[in-house]
Amino acid sequence: MSTLAPELHELLNKQINEEMSASYSYLAMSAWFEDSPYGGFAQWMLTQSQEETTHAMKFYHFLVDRGAKVDLTAIAAPRHEFGSPLEVFETSLRQEEHVTQCIHRLYEAAEKHRDHESKNLLNWFLDEQVEEEKVVQDMIDRLRLVGDNPVGLLQLDQEASQRKPVPAPSEEA
Ligand SMILES: [Fe+2]
Ligand SMILES: [Fe+2]
Repeated sequence: MSTLAPELHELLNKQINEEMSASYSYLAMSAWFEDSPYGGFAQWMLTQSQEETTHAMKFYHFLVDRGAKVDLTAIAAPRHEFGSPLEVFETSLRQEEHVTQCIHRLYEAAEKHRDHESKNLLNWFLDEQVEEEKVVQDMIDRLRLVGDNPVGLLQLDQEASQRKPVPAPSEEA
C-alpha cells in the first residue's frame, strides 16, 4: 500500500502526462524545423523532446518505487504550424512556464502532506525548470536581435546544433 497522499498521487500521475505532452510538442516543433532550412534548431528540439521523456520517466519510476499506481492518460495533438523560428521558441517558453507552474503546485502539495521524498524529487525539477526557461529565453533574445537576417539566423541555427544530446539513463545523476 502506497504512503502517497491521494492529492499528491493524482498530481504526480498528471505530471507524467504533462512531461509526455511537452515531449510530443517538442517533437512537432522539431518536425516543423525539419521542413525548414534550420537543421540545427530541428536537432535542438529533438533533444528537448527526448529530455522531456526522461522527465516523464523520473515521475513514472518514483510512483513505481513508492508502490503507487501509475495512470497514463491521453496526450493531446500538439501544435505543429508556426510562423517563424522565433514563434517556435516563444511557444517553447510558454510551455516551460506552464510546466514550472505544475511543479510549483506539486511542491506545495508535497509540503502540505509533509512528503519529504516527493520534495526531494521536486527540488531537482525546480532547478531544471530555472535552467530550461533561461536557455529558451536566451535563444529568444538572440532571435529577436537577428530578426530576419539570414546570416544571423543560420549562425544561431549552427549554435543550436551544438547542443549536447541527452545522456543515456546510465550516465544520469
Ligand atoms: Fe520537463
Ligand atoms: Fe522542459
